[in-house]
Amino acid sequence: MTWNEIDAALERHPATFGNTQARAPVFAAIDGQITDRYTEHRPDLVAMYRRRIDRALDRMESGTVTGGVRLWKFYSCSVVLQSSDGFVAVDFCEGPAAGDEVPERGEVAALDFYWRPDQRARLADLVDVSLITHANRDHFDVGLSEMLAERGKTIVAPQRLKDSWTPRGLGRHVSVPEYDTVQQVGPCEILTYDGVQFGGPYEPGTWRTPYKRREDDCPTVVYLIRMGGVVFLHCAENYERIDGWLARCTERGWEADVLFQPGMGWCPASVAAACPHVFDFRVHDLEMTHTGGGSKISVLFHDWDGFRRRRRMYCMWGEDFLVNRELLAPLRCARHGGREAD
Ligand SMILES: [Fe+2]
Repeated sequence: MTWNEIDAALERHPATFGNTQARAPVFAAIDGQITDRYTEHRPDLVAMYRRRIDRALDRMESGTVTGGVRLWKFYSCSVVLQSSDGFVAVDFCEGPAAGDEVPERGEVAALDFYWRPDQRARLADLVDVSLITHANRDHFDVGLSEMLAERGKTIVAPQRLKDSWTPRGLGRHVSVPEYDTVQQVGPCEILTYDGVQFGGPYEPGTWRTPYKRREDDCPTVVYLIRMGGVVFLHCAENYERIDGWLARCTERGWEADVLFQPGMGWCPASVAAACPHVFDFRVHDLEMTHTGGGSKISVLFHDWDGFRRRRRMYCMWGEDFLVNRELLAPLRCARHGGREAD
């Protein structure tokens, strides 16, 4: 399939459970096209990418959400949450290696795989709060952050990112979370854990805890985000065991409904232990700076049952999906001892 054919197929078959079968071959085609590090300019891919962003922005600007939260999926970990109260961006990054600099002024300008400035400005107008997990360049975006700062919007990020942005004048616009404390930030509440992505070696099969705060480790904010009556869990690439923390959050009334599943480089067993009944929304996909073009999508569709049981969804760049009370009711019922509807 060409990128235009892929785009058209996704438009015909949007992200619904009923379209799972029709979408699976489209994602197999995408995986077949993105097979290496993104090192060359591909005009047809970039044109399709920007067209999808334009369409998403049109719908974000014109649509309203009356119940629950609409998830907008963009590049890799980039998600925007929309409720009746506003918009929250999480780990927004506009393209491979584009986060480090305003892309058209930086090294990635030649790759051309990023949002146009007018697209970035439209998103900055919409977004009330930007939440950033850690200082790896596929999880933040200097271009968007500068525009948010100009508009007086809120940016939440770990201390290391705030420090690294201080020379460029952006650090003073960053708020570091008060960990383990419920905080209202714009249209959402957050409850956070001071986690870490380990850079050093570890013993296979063990929790990666011995090296916390090593020089090459990357401090990572684990976010519980409450918005529109839904609690989202974003662990990013935290390698530390957090089931104890999650259990304490549950006691405080913060039970995760939706997990942004990074699929690689994190500690899934500890989340599974504390949150066996969460809706699974995959992120950190097709991160092209990673070997092989990043995590593949089509393997997700091997788990047909996850889609059939309405426990999993995947969205491509610019697609959206509504999370509401009706979707979550079976999972919430199962969590409290009831039987999950089949
Ligand atoms: Fe990452």
